[in-house]
Amino acid sequence: MEDLLLQLQDKKIVEDKQGEVYAGTSLMQNMEGKLFYIESYGCQMNFSDSEIVASILEQSGYKVTTNYHEADLVLINTCSIRDKAEQTVRNRLANFNLIKKDKPEMMIGVLGCMAERLKKKFLEEEKIVDIVVGPDAYRTLPKLVEEAETGQKAVNVLLSRDETYADIAPVRLDKNGVTGFISIMRGCDNMCSFCVVPFTRGRERSRDPFSIVQEAKELFAKGYREVTLLGQNVDSYKWKNEEETQSVNFAQLLERVAEVSPELRVRFSTSHPKDITDDVLFTMAKHENICNYIHLPVQSGSTEILEKMNRGYSREWYLGKVKRIREILPDCGLSTDIITGFCGETEEHHQDTLSLMEAVKFDMAYMFFYSERPGTLAARKYTDDVPEEVKRRRLSEVIQLQNKHSQWSNDQDKGKTFKVLVEKTSRKSTDDLCGRNDQNKMVVFPKSNHAVGEYVHVHIDNVTGATLIGKVNATV
Ligand code: 5AD
Ligand code: SF4
Repeated sequence: MEDLLLQLQDKKIVEDKQGEVYAGTSLMQNMEGKLFYIESYGCQMNFSDSEIVASILEQSGYKVTTNYHEADLVLINTCSIRDKAEQTVRNRLANFNLIKKDKPEMMIGVLGCMAERLKKKFLEEEKIVDIVVGPDAYRTLPKLVEEAETGQKAVNVLLSRDETYADIAPVRLDKNGVTGFISIMRGCDNMCSFCVVPFTRGRERSRDPFSIVQEAKELFAKGYREVTLLGQNVDSYKWKNEEETQSVNFAQLLERVAEVSPELRVRFSTSHPKDITDDVLFTMAKHENICNYIHLPVQSGSTEILEKMNRGYSREWYLGKVKRIREILPDCGLSTDIITGFCGETEEHHQDTLSLMEAVKFDMAYMFFYSERPGTLAARKYTDDVPEEVKRRRLSEVIQLQNKHSQWSNDQDKGKTFKVLVEKTSRKSTDDLCGRNDQNKMVVFPKSNHAVGEYVHVHIDNVTGATLIGKVNATV
């Protein structure tokens, strides 16, 4: 703890919201032996942030618990991307408040995007939480807990232009010990008109490549065999040293991480169609351990809607990008995000989305109907004019078509053999193991004498829409 604080104080980055640097020892005494529970919602970045929060709290003397009934501090890391995500969190907060009735000393904190979006409203109007902390203020959490315990309003939702938590070693909460996430950047500068993220996570900033590579090396040394580099838009990763004499882009960063070990698989998410470069694709082709899989959100198949969404590309550009990916990486897995019923979307625009899906045949997709978010460009500029039943009907058509394509894509894999990293015991049977192939498809196979963390070659003899099923040919 002291080491960390010294380190932080050196860098003058433990300033709280009044700008005062706090001393660590008293905090540590107060918090020693206390238990915290943390629950995460939303994107992978939130799960990764919770591991940073866990690290900050452990440095302050807290211990993690998976049982919220025994926790002194209950935290929810929240998502604002759609209204439904916020409702889920509200229900959860209501549950925790019931427990708090019998245990008033239990502190409830809300972290992440909802904290940033709703700020003091949680404390002042709704009075359902004790602590509110935005995504760039996690270093001040121990101090805020202390304030809340004395009955003060504990809020810090300041966004930062340079916070990347680069020096904090995340406490791995996922526990499979084989696959881990590394956050490489924070925030987003894209301003897609439907999206609340630029407002809740602030400006884009890239973490220094040295700490990223170091984190990958440490994970590998602990037995991890796969890392996923995370950012809202990884292709715009750009780090420069202070003198601006040295810079690293995403392709170069990928290469550095891939060179940690040929036994360490590298994945990344999310890519933006307007920013992914040939350089990145060639780097993927060059390194066997960079997985041939790209999550490339299209959002809509209509150029007119893409323009209103402020996505920065047209339908044709997107199709051109897919063509290029398949030229350079012929067996690359491809997934996407699709929104139905965006402002002004006509039946014709919707048909454009379906035809783009037919043209690409994504292996997998995340599909949503449009949910207006207060404060976004779309909320200010356009009317949310597609009736909910129409949004839902279009969504179900999109889902139906995607199910057909996922099945088709998996059918193509029958008879093939894939290298799979064993991740865990199958949910359906303890006699089976499962893991992913290069293209990110889940593969299930009999356990035999194989173990989590090994690479195996699996011959596929059966498939469902979601899974490949087979037998191990030979251990690598
Ligand atoms: N409504 C519906 N879906 C949204 N997404 C982002 N904002 C919204 C919104 N307001 C979807 C996009 C994005 C994914 C993470 O969530 O498809 O890529
Ligand atoms: Fe939101 Fe667009 Fe940024 Fe993704 S790229 S986080 S959709 S603004």
